[in-house]
Amino acid sequence: MVNTREMFAKAVKGGYAIPAFNFNNMEQLQAIIQASAETRSPVILQVSKGARNYANQTLLRYMAEGAVQYAKELGWKRPQIVLHLDHGDTFETCQSCIRMGFSSVMIDGSALPYEENIALTRKVVRYAHRYDVTVEAELGVLAGVEDEVSAEESHYTRPEEVIDFVKRTGCDSLAISIGTSHGAYKFRPEQCKRDPKTGLLVPPPLAFDVLKAIEKKLPGFPIVLHGSSSVPQEYVKMIDTYGGKMPDAVGIPEEQLRKAAKSAVCKINIDSDSRLAMTATIRKVLAEKPGEFDPRKYLGPARDEMKKLYAWKIVHVLGSNGKAR
Ligand code: G3H
Ligand code: 13P
Ligand code: ZN
Repeated sequence: MVNTREMFAKAVKGGYAIPAFNFNNMEQLQAIIQASAETRSPVILQVSKGARNYANQTLLRYMAEGAVQYAKELGWKRPQIVLHLDHGDTFETCQSCIRMGFSSVMIDGSALPYEENIALTRKVVRYAHRYDVTVEAELGVLAGVEDEVSAEESHYTRPEEVIDFVKRTGCDSLAISIGTSHGAYKFRPEQCKRDPKTGLLVPPPLAFDVLKAIEKKLPGFPIVLHGSSSVPQEYVKMIDTYGGKMPDAVGIPEEQLRKAAKSAVCKINIDSDSRLAMTATIRKVLAEKPGEFDPRKYLGPARDEMKKLYAWKIVHVLGSNGKAR
């Protein structure tokens, strides 16, 4: 497994972004690796606190190592795969992941007062760099709530703070807040317009002016976008058709992510879309074959659907295909 340093430098220069896909189970991991290997895309495997609680940190770490071997078996000679801690919340969590062999960590001090965020981030950076592990930090607060990541009060990243923050912490990349948020309900209906033809919600645009101002302050510095699922409406519809209920689920339109990927944004985090693909497929299979009880018969199709989704993101949204030959 590699760290993100070289990967990000190339992505910023090349005007594309590296996919950072969360994984919690074998099917997601297989799908990520198959899609990355086929498209020859560098990839970041992300492990959240929720994932560590669900699947066990040690097991996930060795699954990722197994994934590198699997990628080679698939004919990918030099896989570029990062194992990254997503939203690390304490120094000890980061330390434990680094000791265990993660090649990259995030320390998320974004909910802390500015000086405390700096102090915590700097402590993690000092430790991580001794082991050549790269560190993602966060400034600004994302809106929205997810299992382990919540924010009562969101605010955009303040461009006037980023130079001081990056200089004093020594972080390798910076996650910013420009209007994205976690989960499948990124905007409240009252924040959106409604397309009169389809009845679907049209979300407000991301704050590209803030992104531009940050890029100007930190030329060439790797920027990260969390909460970047686009919540494909075909999956939402499938879930609703087969017994689920996800009213007004809405994500970030893909054309905005394409635009971001061409900028200094070089890591784009996607988790919810994979959950939707998996749930939609499982619901469909079980609804159509009520007698089915072999998990492989519904997890297999779910895995194939997730692979399709990951490959789509790589080729049609992030543009990272062919960047890891
Ligand atoms: O940033 C949030 C990720 O989507 C992980 O979510 O904590 O529910 O695993 P999770
Ligand atoms: P989504 O919920 O938009 O997939 O974001 C995932 C994320 O940011 C993980 O850190
Ligand atoms: Zn996140």
